[in-house]
Amino acid sequence: MSFSKLLDLLTGRDGGTAVDWDAKYGTDTRSTVELHGLTIDHDSRRFGERYQASDPSVLSDAVAFIGLDPRFYRFVDLGCGKGRMLIVAAELGFKSCIGVEFADELAQTAKTNVAAAGFDSISIVHGDAGAYAFQDQPFVLYLFNPFGKQIMARVRDNLARLRRAEYYVIYKNPRERRIFDEMPTLHYLGTPPAHKGAWGAHVWASRGG
Ligand SMILES: C[S@@+](CC[C@H](N)C(=O)[O-])C[C@H]1O[C@@H](n2cnc3c(N)ncnc32)[C@H](O)[C@@H]1O
Repeated sequence: MSFSKLLDLLTGRDGGTAVDWDAKYGTDTRSTVELHGLTIDHDSRRFGERYQASDPSVLSDAVAFIGLDPRFYRFVDLGCGKGRMLIVAAELGFKSCIGVEFADELAQTAKTNVAAAGFDSISIVHGDAGAYAFQDQPFVLYLFNPFGKQIMARVRDNLARLRRAEYYVIYKNPRERRIFDEMPTLHYLGTPPAHKGAWGAHVWASRGG
């Protein structure tokens, strides 16, 4: 079996025909949730975007585009919502997967979904993405338009504290992409062919990466 076929099977995309990804684990990651009405005990709530799930193929295609071996990387999803991409990352074989989510209800749903999926490599941090401290170890940062530039600037500052980490940024619908374009420690790699355009997935690598 080819590597791309294996990726298709693992991520619920078989020969271009979308299958019901949630049905595999009995999760509900598909439905969109507006933030008003959710319990969010952080000042950053006004900069947050609503919950909407990424298509699983975004990550598998970006991993193939970069050509990285997930077994040697941690996966970090800032604004992980219901945890879909954490499960996709675990399926792909990332060494460990961490999701940060500030809405109580979504963080709880993510924990339930991750437990249902049965991967022990995943952990959920219930908190503000702007406060997440990256570690100096290889990682992939995943962002799907989670928040505005005020919080993204904090993420940038936290990345800039790293001394030697090799990392990649995968940013879908990158409304604040300028922040990463202007980071001297990053260079832009481009987009996976199936995810081009302003709403697509864009990839940066650390200079060592
Ligand atoms: C567009 S959804 C992306 C969900 C998930 N990453 C995916 O791709 O399937 C954005 C998520 O970011 C969360 N969020 C927004 N601002 C946040 C913040 N400052 N800290 C943590 N989570 C945040 C929202 O609650 C929402 O669940």
